[in-house]
Amino acid sequence: MNETAQHSDSIKPLLELSGISKNFPGVRALSQVSLELYPGQVTALVGENGAGKSTIVKILTGIYQPDDGRIDINQKQTRLSSPQVASQVGITAIHQETVMFDNLSVAENIFIGHAPKNMWGLIQTKKMHQDAKQLLERIGANLDPSIELKNLGIASKHLVGIARALSVNTQVVIMDEPTAALSYKEIEELYVLIERLKAEGKAILFISHKFDEIYRIADRYTVFRDGEMIGKGLLNELKEAELVKMMVGRDVTGIFPQRTGTLGETVLEVKHYSHPTEFDEISFSLRRGEILGFYGLVGAGRSELMQCLFGISESSNGALTLDNRTLHIKNPTQAIDNGIVYVPEDRGGQGVVTGLPIFENITLPSLNKLSNRGFLSLAKEFSIARSYSEKLELRAASLDQHVELLSGGNQQKVVIAKWLATQPKVIILDEPTKGIDIGSKAAVHAFMRELADDGLAVIIVSSEIPEVIGMSDRIIVMREGLMVAEYSKATVSPELIVRDAAGIAEHVA
Ligand SMILES: Nc1ncnc2c1ncn2[C@@H]1O[C@H](COP(=O)(O)OP(=O)(O)OP(=O)(O)O)[C@@H](O)[C@H]1O
Ligand SMILES: [Mg+2]
Repeated sequence: MNETAQHSDSIKPLLELSGISKNFPGVRALSQVSLELYPGQVTALVGENGAGKSTIVKILTGIYQPDDGRIDINQKQTRLSSPQVASQVGITAIHQETVMFDNLSVAENIFIGHAPKNMWGLIQTKKMHQDAKQLLERIGANLDPSIELKNLGIASKHLVGIARALSVNTQVVIMDEPTAALSYKEIEELYVLIERLKAEGKAILFISHKFDEIYRIADRYTVFRDGEMIGKGLLNELKEAELVKMMVGRDVTGIFPQRTGTLGETVLEVKHYSHPTEFDEISFSLRRGEILGFYGLVGAGRSELMQCLFGISESSNGALTLDNRTLHIKNPTQAIDNGIVYVPEDRGGQGVVTGLPIFENITLPSLNKLSNRGFLSLAKEFSIARSYSEKLELRAASLDQHVELLSGGNQQKVVIAKWLATQPKVIILDEPTKGIDIGSKAAVHAFMRELADDGLAVIIVSSEIPEVIGMSDRIIVMREGLMVAEYSKATVSPELIVRDAAGIAEHVA
């Protein structure tokens, strides 16, 4: 363990969890874990998909009760018996819809549990709105305090969470993968706000699968693996590779799988594809066995292009040829029937059917192929689901488990599996490993390459440079709706694509 005695002795933890256990039917989500959060410091909680990170967040926000263990806040044992109690004692979570109240106003969400009251104990609505406005202004948010939270987008909800975190009463701020849904610019703004929270002495718990941001923003780390606490300490005393090893339990090389197959014939040809507002004159082709990467900044039009190819929106001009047949794809059903599938970036909740077990979620879109003269073989359904789950390192108690009980990252693997199981000709993966831990990422990459080597044509949209370069045979860079560059694996470099994406001219030495 890497606990440094001097440091933890000099300041006392604001919040201390010890011996916390939590069981679900068939799953030991947490087993005797401990966690300390210090005032004015960011503690990163790292662990693989299903390690128990979100479970600890739900315990801290009063959504779940632990089976065992104790919680101390400012050296005083505390029971977080409900979300209301958790917010009253000053614990705030950002990006955890469950503890934001959709039907309350922005101001009520900011001041929940500690609204300004008059001498008769009635809430002073006007003062609350003024105070809320002030807090929002402090973080540069121009939001109306009186509108209901449900009318806001993700980034604005974050800001409300942060305004609440800044209100005097808050002591502990929890962020569970806060940057997953944010653009590059919004992420930078979040970092600035985190610095401000630190300066005000708040204790911050930060959960992320991105190691660069952990090292940038966090002071301490705590590692969970399979529901157990594996190690904790100061980040500046630990190399990234060691942290990864602690988390995964083995070395992760970061080497991408190489193509073993040869490229086949052209399967997809896109010519002069245009959209009234999002992109213009996009032309490219894709061969069987090929992985084609699309790189660009958020807003470059990559996702819009892919959604258009999948029939979510209509192109204003251009032609699409699949296996030498020109298609006019008007909706996703047509795309799927023709063998083009798209796995969207925003998979949170939408991509899975809650109330159905994992195996049915995986086989759902492939039912036509699996049914034998109208009779669906359950055994076959199971065996297909099992093989995809194994390849993607899906972690679940069993394939019968309802998909909503899976951890966030494992739900994403279900979504990827279900589209792969349709055995498409072309699969488009938008940010395929977002929210997936570094160990399973390698499995997802290996499986993608294996399928390509078997003849699948793959398009990946990725903002992660190592991923897009490591996985792709060819890379197209988009900027402001246009194709601005194309590279082969041999000619590409990180500097080149970053420059193309940002529109920075080559520096002449
Ligand atoms: N309500 C529940 N019922 C049954 N099992 C659950 C429930 N909530 C969580 N689990 C299980 O507990 C384990 C820990 O899940 P948790 O959501 O805490 O993981 P995580 O570390 O947040 O993972 P990720 O990085 O994928 O978000 C998983 O095996 C998950 O399936
Ligand atoms: Mg989680």
